[in-house]
Amino acid sequence: MCGIVGAVAQRNVVPILLQGLQRLEYRGYDSAGLVVVHDKQLQRARSTGRVADLTLKSADISGHLGIAHTRWATHGVPSERNAHPHMSNASIAVVHNGIIENYEELRTRLTAQGYVFTSDTDTEVIAHLVHSHYKNGATLLAATQASLAELVGAYAIGVVAADNPAQLICSRKGSPLLLGVGKHENFIASDMSALLAVTKNVVYLEEGDVAEIGLDAYKVFDARGKPVTRPVQISELTNDSVELGEYKHYMLKEIFEQPQALANTLEAVCNSQSLIPGIFGAEASAAFAKIDSILILACGTSHNSGLVARNWLEEIAGIPCNVEIASEYRYRTSVSNPNTLIVTISQSGETADTLAALNHAKAVGHAHTLAICNVPESAIIRQSSLRFLTRAGPEIGVASTKAFTTQLAGLFLLTLVLAKLRGKLSQQQEQQHLHDLRHLPSAVQAVLKLEPAIKKLAENFANKHHALFLGRGLHYPIALEGALKLKEISYIHAEAYPAGELKHGPLALVDKDMPVIAVAPNDTLLEKLKSNLQEVRARGGELFVFADANTKIQSSEGVHVMQMPEHAGFLSPILHTIPLQLLAYYVALQKGTDVDKPRNLAKSVTVE
Ligand code: M6R
Repeated sequence: MCGIVGAVAQRNVVPILLQGLQRLEYRGYDSAGLVVVHDKQLQRARSTGRVADLTLKSADISGHLGIAHTRWATHGVPSERNAHPHMSNASIAVVHNGIIENYEELRTRLTAQGYVFTSDTDTEVIAHLVHSHYKNGATLLAATQASLAELVGAYAIGVVAADNPAQLICSRKGSPLLLGVGKHENFIASDMSALLAVTKNVVYLEEGDVAEIGLDAYKVFDARGKPVTRPVQISELTNDSVELGEYKHYMLKEIFEQPQALANTLEAVCNSQSLIPGIFGAEASAAFAKIDSILILACGTSHNSGLVARNWLEEIAGIPCNVEIASEYRYRTSVSNPNTLIVTISQSGETADTLAALNHAKAVGHAHTLAICNVPESAIIRQSSLRFLTRAGPEIGVASTKAFTTQLAGLFLLTLVLAKLRGKLSQQQEQQHLHDLRHLPSAVQAVLKLEPAIKKLAENFANKHHALFLGRGLHYPIALEGALKLKEISYIHAEAYPAGELKHGPLALVDKDMPVIAVAPNDTLLEKLKSNLQEVRARGGELFVFADANTKIQSSEGVHVMQMPEHAGFLSPILHTIPLQLLAYYVALQKGTDVDKPRNLAKSVTVE
């Protein structure tokens, strides 16, 4: 979603801003722009193309203070006039992520005061509001603080004034923003990847913080305006982790990073002889002792990992578990149980719906909250009492891959820890699970060897417009995830069903033009699944089956079987995810879509 970069330096900041925007491209955007302060004037360039177009457009611009933005349209179509930065009276410029909910009311008031609006965005009200205070003599900091007090909604903002050549004001509430601290230069950005070329020193702003940033110093004020100290941390992010290297797309790179990502995520556990609650935080033991049920809240792919986990938690740990789409839960009147553990799952840790669901859960009386997340210092991590960090490394491709499988690893650990605490896990079972987890990265590596065969298989989908995914039990959520991946990046309409549901409706869709992809592990539901596949074949549907060894499902006319390794027991969903990711990737290549930045989607969904 939208991205912000800002800089104040002794050198020209335009290259810094453009490089930062390039690094934020993965978040998804439809226009971009920047403003620099030069000779007491605001110089602005905006473009509806890629950041590369903005680079051309800003060739004649330079300055030592500037803010830049990639916009993902919410209010107003993607167009140059709606692209940020927005300005007021050639004096104030603002970039903004998030949504200002009371913008219409503010717009009416500001229009009555004589302000002229040149865009359809909610952001422009911020520029005029700041101007209205600044022109009356307030400092830029005070003018921004006074404006923020009038806003309802979520924001991360950067503000500069034409007559203030070395000062940048920024603030965050509900959208991510951090400070990068350099030598005689300082920066702001939506995430650290934008600043890797200029600094590794990072200050994470808290909710409601406002910062005043100069060349040699910065001050942070909390939501009530009190000066506060936020620690400077050294970012562990490296340039390599956010660069493509030998790969054509980030998605493929990230699929192939899964063995390492899983090894990193499981490191602490695999090096120890037993499972301890402490891996979820210091207070986990006490909290886990009090809980009698689990409610998982998440969106998209992260929701799918929750659906797998429900099966594990109920079967292995014997604990009741519900899984809800975060955006539904937050607006539903639900019956809360204070002994329920709320588990939020999020790659980015900034998803607005998941964050709002977490806050709703807390507001209705849930004290025990656990975040399973890939981004340390993200809002979801900071606002939860317990946490588990997946160590997948930065995920740049919009389609989530390694974040999903590492979430599953984290959720499996949660299952085992709770099972142990509840007396459902013998020592021998614990050792067996630890053994299987240690083996997991190499098992994933073995599945990745199917890549050439899956690439070939993908050719069958080049002319398809629809696809059905089938799975059962623990693997139904994997079918859902396979369908989500395919539709997201290849734009083929794909649906997933529990295979037993086929005859209750979707079978009507099956004919020779409807490819049916089946996840076929060698588990207790195999024979039932085989019957469901017969139902498809009998109607002329073409089957693509990912089958474990020993399932005795053979390729034949209209049946393409991709042989998986031995059945991996409870960890099988992780292995069965891999070929579906590769299938989606190679079908998207066939279709010629923008794999890493699919249309209309954003990586980090920071608006509702
Ligand atoms: O960052 P999150 O895990 O909270 O994001 C949730 C969804 O937006 C995300 O998983 C989305 O469904 C993926 N792009 C799917 O590949």
